[in-house]
Amino acid sequence: MTELLLCPPTYYTVDYEINPWMHIHNKPDRELAESQWTAFYRLLTELKVTVHRIDPKPGLPDMVFTANGGLVFGNKFIVSNFRHAERAKEAPVFASWFKNRGYEVVHLPRDRYFEGEGDALMFGDTLVAGFKFRSDIHSHRYIGEVIGRRVISLELASPNFYHLDTCFCPLNDETAIYYPEAFDSYGREVLKHIIPNLIEVGRKDAMNFCCNAVVSGKNVIMNNCSAELRRRMETLGLNVFQLSFSEFIKAGGSSKCLSLYLKSPHNEP
Ligand code: ARG
Repeated sequence: MTELLLCPPTYYTVDYEINPWMHIHNKPDRELAESQWTAFYRLLTELKVTVHRIDPKPGLPDMVFTANGGLVFGNKFIVSNFRHAERAKEAPVFASWFKNRGYEVVHLPRDRYFEGEGDALMFGDTLVAGFKFRSDIHSHRYIGEVIGRRVISLELASPNFYHLDTCFCPLNDETAIYYPEAFDSYGREVLKHIIPNLIEVGRKDAMNFCCNAVVSGKNVIMNNCSAELRRRMETLGLNVFQLSFSEFIKAGGSSKCLSLYLKSPHNEP
């Protein structure tokens, strides 16, 4: 059973530029963003995913990307320490949502940047964590202690793929997709070592945010991808659902960034 946290795009826009995808003169279309988000929400509920909502706040346009609010592990919520001031005010909003629902909210030391599940995804018993553009590596050890799991730190190598979830996605216990050029050679070797079936995604699919997918059991939801990638996932027995997230890509995010796992097979102690 998968449970996700989403935030409606009521105040979503591009008002600042903190990653290479964002251009203040290339604003998302409000109505289209709203309808893309609603289609995503509907599909999730049709697929029997339990969707929780956090209320959006004026002045926090990127709050729609709930994956960056923090990381959930069992009853613990490790709240993010955002790198950029533009997003830092989201942290207390996420912290109080979780606190009000009985989670133990864990704060990292102030000087440790961490952008939540956007940079930290469970693969089996291992937390794969990205660092450099947003999260910093010093946060990883601390997080490993909090969740009691092995953490593997991978340096992100390309500014377009500034969060781990833009270039890496676990699909099941053996399989993940990744975009090799977003990692350095050490990172690529580590991924090959820990993931029995590691599928490479080409540049076009990577730039279409195809690694930024939501997985619930055998269902995978992603932005439109190539027929080849779709076929490779289908041969693994996965059901691939493609939607357009064009308006969210203008801020550097797609389906995975728009959701935070509250419950999934791997974030239970
Ligand atoms: N505009 C947001 C930012 O730059 C996009 C966040 C995308 N989230 C993600 N999990 N990759 O912070």
